[in-house]
Formats: sequence, C-alpha cells, structure tokens
Amino acid sequence: MKVLNFGSLNIDHVYNMPHFTEPKETQSSLSYMRNLGGKGLNQSIALAKAGAETYHAGRIGADGEVFRTYLESYGVHTDWLETSEHSVTGHAIIETCEGENRIILYGGANQEIGKELIDRVLEHFGAGDVLLVQNEISGMAYLLNKAHSKDMKIVFNTAPMNEKVFSYPLECVDTFIVNEVEGRALAESDSDDPSMIIEDLRRKYPGKELILTAGTDGAWYSSGEEFFHQDAFPVIAVDTTAAGDTFTGYFLAMKLLGKTPQEAMAMAARASSMTVQKAGAAQSIPSLEELL
Ligand code: RIB
Repeated sequence: MKVLNFGSLNIDHVYNMPHFTEPKETQSSLSYMRNLGGKGLNQSIALAKAGAETYHAGRIGADGEVFRTYLESYGVHTDWLETSEHSVTGHAIIETCEGENRIILYGGANQEIGKELIDRVLEHFGAGDVLLVQNEISGMAYLLNKAHSKDMKIVFNTAPMNEKVFSYPLECVDTFIVNEVEGRALAESDSDDPSMIIEDLRRKYPGKELILTAGTDGAWYSSGEEFFHQDAFPVIAVDTTAAGDTFTGYFLAMKLLGKTPQEAMAMAARASSMTVQKAGAAQSIPSLEELL
C-alpha cells in the first residue's frame, strides 16, 4: 500500500507581530523568517518523519528546487514533483502573534495542477493505495473522481476551507480531517462547540471516518460505532503553524503502520503538541525518535 500526497508547496514568509495588523494600520514586525511550508509539503514531511513511505506530487516554480532536495532528504519520493515554466512557487504571508497565526496564500504553481498531470501520476497507483489531499491545489474535483474510480482510499484535509469544497465529489472521500473552523463549515453547523460540531459532521457524513482537531480542546475520532475524544497535551504554544499538518501526517502514518485509531490519535496529538513548541512549518515537525 502506497501513500500519495498530491499537495501544495509554499515558501512561507513569517512575521512575528506585536499584534495582528488591523485594517489601515502599518506596523513593524518583531522578526522575519523564510521557511519551507505549504499544507502539502508539511504533511508529506510529517508522514515521512513518522515512518510512512510517501510519494509527493505537485508543482513548484523554477525558484522552488529547494523543496525537491528537502523532501528527498526525508526519503519522500519526488518523481512527480514538477517544475512549472510559467509560474513561481506558491507562497504564504504568515503573521504570528502569541502562538496564533493568520495566513495569506498566493497559489502560484500549486494552481497549475490539471488533468494531464493527475492522469500521469495516478497511472502508478491503484486499489488500496491512499491519496492524501488538502485544499491548496487546482484540479481537486477531477483528482477525487479519478482516485475514487481507481479504488484508492481518499483522505481529505479540507484546509483551507472555502465554498469550492462543496463543489467537489465529497462522496468519494473516505476520511475527512478538519479543525473546528473547517468542521463547522463542512458540517454547516451553527455551533462553535467542537463537541457539537463533531455530532453535526457525523449526521451529515454518515459512513465516513471523521477526525476533528480543536487545539487545546483536544480531538475527536468517529468511524461507524467507534467514537471517542483524545485529550490535547498541555504545552505552551510558540507557533501553531503546521500543527494540523503534523496531526494529519502522524495520524495517517500510524494507521498505515498498523496502529489502532486510539493509538494513532494519541501519537498525532503528541506530535502536534511538539510542533507548536517550535517556530516554523515543516522544520518544527518532530521525528518519531524525538516523539518517543
Ligand atoms: O498549515 C500551515 C501551512 O498553511 C503553511 O506552511 C502555509 O504555507 C499554508 O499552506
């Protein structure tokens, strides 16, 4: 069984701020960092650090070759990481403040994923293989349909959540992984309480495996009769960037390595509690050795 992560790669420009910038305000940052990120890249690194053999497909610009080297340094297969002749690598402008973040995205080459690349990549995958996707690339509806037609198991982290998600063939998805904001929108729930949001998700998506993460409120797992809560590990967050990506990558890797949902959720919670204690995106994700 192989894991294909068809996902985004972004250069993250990170500014630590005295407070989040208000409309009409100009303020100086306290610091600046340039990191390798993107929900796709972060999740491939989390999968690989957790010990899963991972294939990453996606697009970068001519300015993004560093992503190939970085993925390969963790053993991620990059056979289908392609370089665009037309676009620059995607980027993100990230403000961080007191452990929280705000993110602006520019899609760049991530928005050049189309049928031709999807067909070429999926030729190498089949029944039982896993497709992991987030919502930062183009071609999503075609990708989900095509993977489903090949009997791949589809794990969809609907981040960042937007209206387009409802135009995708969600019936093809086996597992949804969402945070409370994404979960609320996906369930069309009117509650802010994560324990209600998971109930709304269960009602709206019966038969799906559902994972809802909610920061310090912990996380919920639901699949058929199996339904439980995982506590968060109490830590002081420095930067929450990539916490959700760590959770997704670790949860999936642990499941693929034969762990029970309880074990996989506990490992994922522990891993993301370590990610938030370090600044940055992919580089803040712990290795399995660090975790253990
Ligand atoms: O989930 C964190 C990621 O979201 C960042 O690395 C940024 O690139 C955006 O995709």
